[in-house]
Order: sequence, then C-alpha cells, then structure tokens
Amino acid sequence: MITDTHCHITCDTLYPDADLIIEEALQQGVDLMMIMCTNKEEYLRAQQLKAKYPEHLKVAYGFYPGDVQDITFEDLADLEAEAKAHHLDVLGEIGLDYYWDTTFKEQQKELFIRQIEIANTTNLPISIHMRDASRDCLDILKAYAKTPIIFHCFSGSLEIMKEALTLNSLISFAGPITYKNNKQGLINVAHCPIDRILSETDSPYLSPVPYRGKTNHPAYVHATVSKIAEIQEVDETVLQQQIRNNFLSLFPHSKNS
Ligand code: NI
Repeated sequence: MITDTHCHITCDTLYPDADLIIEEALQQGVDLMMIMCTNKEEYLRAQQLKAKYPEHLKVAYGFYPGDVQDITFEDLADLEAEAKAHHLDVLGEIGLDYYWDTTFKEQQKELFIRQIEIANTTNLPISIHMRDASRDCLDILKAYAKTPIIFHCFSGSLEIMKEALTLNSLISFAGPITYKNNKQGLINVAHCPIDRILSETDSPYLSPVPYRGKTNHPAYVHATVSKIAEIQEVDETVLQQQIRNNFLSLFPHSKNS
C-alpha cells in the first residue's frame, strides 16, 4: 500500500511507457498515484489512463508558475470548466517559483491567486509548488486558500515547515530526502507529525537513492517511504498505511481505500 502523490507520467518523456510504468509500480506495491498535469494534452492523457486504472490513479491539473507567460484566459476558463465538472481530484501544481526567473513575479502571483479561487469555488484541494518564494507563497495561501493544501516536494527550512503546518496542509517529501548531504531534509522529516506526511516521486525528476541518475518512476517511491520510516523510527507498513490515510483524507467522498 504505497502512495506516490505526485508524478508526471503523462509528460512527453514518460507517456510513451505509461502503461508499463503503472504496471511496474503496481508490482512494487505502489497502488495509488496522482498524475500531475501541467497542460491540456497531459490532462487528456491522464483522463484516459484513469479510465483504465480507476482505483489506482488520481488526476491533478493546474498551471505551473514557470509557464505563466504562456497561459491564456481561455486556458483558465477551460481549467475552471473541468474543475466544475469534477473531472480532476486536485488543482495543481500551482504556486510561485523565483528560482529561475523573477521577471514575472506579479504575473505569477496573479495566476496563483486566480487558480486558488477556482479551487475554492469547486472545493478542490491544491498542490503547491514553491521554490525560493516561501514568504510570498505562504502569505497568499493565508489570505486566499480555503481548501486543503499539499506542499509538494517540500524543501524549505524548519521554520517555514512549521508555518506551513499551521495551515490545513500536508507536507510531501520526495527523493532528495534520501540524498546523503541533505541534512535539512532529515530535520524536516523528523519534525513533521506523521499524520501530516505524504510521499511522492515527482517523476521523471529527483530519483531517490539508489535510483539516482536514472529517470524517476512511481515504483521508486518505496525508497523515499523507507527513508521516512527510518527517520521517524516507525514501522514501514504502519507508515505506508498512515500516508494512504493522510492522502485519502483529502477526498472524503473517494472510493479508494
Ligand atoms: Ni511536479
């Protein structure tokens, strides 16, 4: 019962092998995955896969801050229509990213807030991408967010994590917590209450040890879960069940168990 709460298996890199990737994950006991879609094409692919593996997949759709210059009014209207029709489970990943570029900060904030508002009116949890932008991101969430929050691939300071935990949120850990020099990751995992933890791969990126350097797949999330169990000093099976419960708490009307 292992959960990958964030994987991009409908991106161009992974989609040609999506069925194999899902089968490989299922064989490894990774029986619930959330596909993150950053554009309409990925989203339509994900809907087809979900029709095929309904108990094993959830679908998230939203516009990533790095794409802010390409997102049109029509894109947002379409996202809103899909959200209203309940065709997605989570809205995201959305947020702010000042790591690559700060030229479009204001546009990023506008896009972020607009999508939080769509999530509010359609009662969808949100998945947050925040990179070098924790302060602005948390301020916006505090001011606008009304639905549960997933902090995807959390990598901030302990102080930021504690502040994030004051919100209605879950903290998702990815491959980097298995990296030898990532002391901050260990500290964060150790201080995160077990009922607020999620596991993810962010496939095809950020493969955990011992798969580092390979293209990441949902099947590899077990390595991250093992590391969390080791740091938290909890039995791995107990942790797997707890993570599943944490994730499913976002979907009170879901049939997955
Ligand atoms: Ni992602």
